[in-house]
Amino acid sequence: MAIQNLKILGIDTSCDDTCIALLEIKNSKLEILSNIVSSQVKLHAKYGGVYPSLAIREHKKNLPLVFKKVLQQTQNKPFDLIGVTVGPGLEPCLWQGINFAKDLAKKFKKPLISVNHIEAHILANFIDRGLTSISFPAICLVVSGGHTGLILMNEIGKYQLIGETRDDAAGECFDKVARILGLDYPGGPAIAAKAIQIEGSRTPIILPRPMINQRNYDFSFSGLKTAVLYKVKGRKVNIPEVCREIQQAIIDVLIKKTIKAAKDYRVKSIILGGGVVANIELRKQIKEKIKKDFQLYIPDSKFCTDNGVMIAITAYFHRAKKTKEIKADANLKI
Ligand code: KG4
Ligand code: ZN
Repeated sequence: MAIQNLKILGIDTSCDDTCIALLEIKNSKLEILSNIVSSQVKLHAKYGGVYPSLAIREHKKNLPLVFKKVLQQTQNKPFDLIGVTVGPGLEPCLWQGINFAKDLAKKFKKPLISVNHIEAHILANFIDRGLTSISFPAICLVVSGGHTGLILMNEIGKYQLIGETRDDAAGECFDKVARILGLDYPGGPAIAAKAIQIEGSRTPIILPRPMINQRNYDFSFSGLKTAVLYKVKGRKVNIPEVCREIQQAIIDVLIKKTIKAAKDYRVKSIILGGGVVANIELRKQIKEKIKKDFQLYIPDSKFCTDNGVMIAITAYFHRAKKTKEIKADANLKI
């Protein structure tokens, strides 16, 4: 396929960040012209999670401001294509981005491409790599605040979900445990910052590794949260030790199941994506475990958490897609 030169606007409002980026793809090379993430973390912190009505209000307020910033940073460079997340995510939040993108598409007479947020977390791996190819088939582990899934990927656009969480997502588990321990939201980075104070991976605190040895590719993290609750209830615990162990329990399950899937499906590569992949220990330990058995692709940390660049690159790959009606789908599957 001939590579076109395109400037793509990527918009994401699936959760609590308002993200817009402008990405230029020129002779197979990528250049990020602007990448703005307007975080609502401080607002939601006091609720220990995302407070939907607050998130909707903030998206509405922030979208025009963030877009203006992008225009300023790029000296009003015209764009050729718009990509917007249509799901999965919080439906009213998704609509904010979709309606904004629809208005822009109409005003500037540009095509609008609908983007699946989970696929975007996977394709974030192309951001630093340019359009050089990834060896397929691959097993993708997508771990974020809303999702935990293992996906068999045969090529860009061809996916098969082979396992997912039966209850809480891994990021959600980090967030809920952090709340139990009185730490900041989002919980992942807060727990990682405490865990780093403990050397080695073993601590006197032992938590379960749910479903680690089961012969399927599903996950379950809500029991882990309950186990933490029981460990700390009415007791004075060493918070860094609890953090180290909760982080290690989540990492152990994620790595074991991912490698099992990669072996069972005899894939060439393992691809990681989603906010939890920003976790330094997870990145380090999976590299050590995989050795040279599979090609390993991990996005730069700043492209693991939600951003507009991953939406723009996904829209680029699907630029020929014609969608009759662009609408939010909170439970969109990959
Ligand atoms: O992908 P993302 O930005 O949003 C969703 O699509 O959900 O992921 C956010 C999640 C949060 O649950 C957050 O606690 C987690 O990613 N996270 C981390 C780290 N950074 C963010 N979890 C563990 N370690 C981190 N360093
Ligand atoms: Zn995400």
